Amino acid sequence: MSPQRQFGRACALAAGLLLIAAGLGGAPAMADPAPGSLGALAAAKGKFFGSATDNPELSDAPYVQILTTEFGQITVGNTMKWQYTEPARGQFNYSQADTIVNLAQSNGQLVRGHTLVWHNQLPSWVNSVPNNELLGVMRNHITHEATHFRGKVIHWDVVNEAFEENGTRRQTVFQQKIGDSYIAEAFRAARAADPGAKLYYNDYNIEGINAKSDAVYNMVRSFLQQGIPIDGVGMQAHLILGQVPSSLQQNIQRFADLGLDVAITELDIRMNLPRDTAKDMQQADDYRRVVNACLAVTRCVGITVWDYTDKYSWIPSVFPGQGAALPYDENFNKKPAYHAIANALGATPDTTPPSTPGTPSASGITSSTASLMWTASTDNVGVAGYNIYRRQGTTDTLLTQSNANSTTLTGLTPNTQYQIVVRARDAANNLSATSGAVTFTTLPSAGGSCRVAYRASNWGGGGGFTAEVSITNTGPTAINGWSLVWTFGNGQRVSYMWNASYTQPAATVTATNASYNGSIGANGGTQSFGFNGTFSGGNPNPTAFALNGTNCTIA
Ligand code: XIL
Repeated sequence: MSPQRQFGRACALAAGLLLIAAGLGGAPAMADPAPGSLGALAAAKGKFFGSATDNPELSDAPYVQILTTEFGQITVGNTMKWQYTEPARGQFNYSQADTIVNLAQSNGQLVRGHTLVWHNQLPSWVNSVPNNELLGVMRNHITHEATHFRGKVIHWDVVNEAFEENGTRRQTVFQQKIGDSYIAEAFRAARAADPGAKLYYNDYNIEGINAKSDAVYNMVRSFLQQGIPIDGVGMQAHLILGQVPSSLQQNIQRFADLGLDVAITELDIRMNLPRDTAKDMQQADDYRRVVNACLAVTRCVGITVWDYTDKYSWIPSVFPGQGAALPYDENFNKKPAYHAIANALGATPDTTPPSTPGTPSASGITSSTASLMWTASTDNVGVAGYNIYRRQGTTDTLLTQSNANSTTLTGLTPNTQYQIVVRARDAANNLSATSGAVTFTTLPSAGGSCRVAYRASNWGGGGGFTAEVSITNTGPTAINGWSLVWTFGNGQRVSYMWNASYTQPAATVTATNASYNGSIGANGGTQSFGFNGTFSGGNPNPTAFALNGTNCTIA
C-alpha cells in the first residue's frame, strides 16, 4: 500500500466513524474513495458524496473506473424498482441490482436502496390487484425486497413521489386502493424487514419551502408523533440552471429540527442545450450552493448525483433540448461544476493559472466573421475555456468565450482591421498570460449581391499594365446598367479601357457599362471589361470595389 493510499484509508476510516457518529449507522462497509476524490472530501466532512448508476453502463470500463474511485456511495438507478424486482406477482428477481450492490461492496461504497413503493416503473399487474389485496401485495413486496438486501443498504427510499405540487396526495393505485395509510404501512413493513436501514421518504420539488414540501413536512412530523418508523427525507433535487431554491438550507434545517436526517438523493442541474461557458459557470455556482446548504446542516448526511456523467444522464430523453446536467461531460472530463463541488467540500483551492495559449491564426474571413484557432493551453487541474479579446491600443476588450481552442467570431464590422488575443481560464477562474496577437481585416460589405475578380499583369520593362475585371451578380435580381468604382492605392492611371467607359478625376476610377453589356443576369450572371494603365513603383490591386454604390466581395 503506498503511503498516499494508506493515508487515504486512515482518513476514510476516521470519516467512517464520523458517518456513524452522524447517525448513518447500519453501513455495512466504509467508504474508501480515492484521496482527493469527491467521496473522500465529503467523508472528511462527515458526509457521503455518491452517484447513481445503472446496469447497462457497467460495461464501459472508463466509466466504472471513475464510478468506483470518485464516489463513496452508489444508488441503484433503476434495477431495484418494482418493475425489475417483481415483474410478475410473487416472482422476484434481484440479479441486476445484486450486480451493482456487489460492485459497490467490493469497492467499499455505501448503497442507497431506491425504491420500494413508487407509481412509476411499476409492472402493470399491480394495477389490477383487487382493492382488498393490494395492502398485502405491497407489504409482501417490501418485505421480500428489504429482506433480500438486509444489511447491504444504508438507506431505503421506502415511498417515492407520493405528493402533487399543491401538497395533495398523488392519486396512485396505492392511494386509491389502500388510502392515506399506505405510506405508514410501507414504512412499518420496511422497518420490520431491515431494522438496520434508515428509512426515507423521497420526492422532487421539495428542496425549497413550498406547498409540496410543507405537505411532506406535516406528514413526517405526524409519523414521528405517532411512532411510525421514519428516519429521513430524500430531496431528489432535479434542478434547473439558476434555480436553486433560496430556501434550500432553511428547508433542510426544518426537517433536521424534527430529528430526521436529510439526503440530497438525485442531484442534477439541467440547462438548455447547447452548453456554453456562461452556463457552465452558472451551473458550477448552483452546485456549490447545493453542497454548501448540505454542509451547513449537520443532519444533511450526504449528496448523490443522478449519475455523474452527461454520457448517461436521464435528462435529454425526458426533457427534450435540455441536458449537460452533471459534473462530468460525456467524455468524462471534469466540468466547472465538478471543481465547484470539490472546492465547496474543502479541496485545496487551485491558484495555478493555465499556460499561455498559442498565437491565434485566422481563416475563413468574410465581411462579418472570422475563424480563429490556437494551440491549447495546459493546466494542473484542467482548462475550463478561453476568453477572446479585441486589442485596440493598450485596451483588450472581451469579445466572446469558447470551451475549445477555436472559435468563430461573428458580427464583425466590414472592411475593418482586428487584432485578437486569447487567454485561457481554469475552473477556479485563474487566467493565463495573454497570447500573441493575430491581425486581420474583414472583407468589405458584400451587400450580398456582387463579386469582382481583378487580374492585373505588368508589362515587361515596367510602367505599364493590363487589367481584366469581371463582375458577377450574386444577388437574386438582374442588374440593368452598372458602374463600378474603385480607388487606386499607388497613383495608378487608366490609359485605355475596352467594354466599358471610364472617368478618373484622381485616384478613384468609375467604369460604366458599354451599350451591349449593361445587363448582368441574376444568381451568377457575369460581364467583363479590361483596361491598360500606368504605374510607377508598385501596382497593388485595389482593395474594394463598389457596384452601383454597393461593395462587392473580391474573388
Ligand atoms: C429515472 C431513471 O434515471 C431513468 O433511467 C428511468 O428511465 C426513469 O427513472 N425520480 C426518481 C428516479 O426517483 O427513480 C428517476 O430515475 C428520476 C426521477
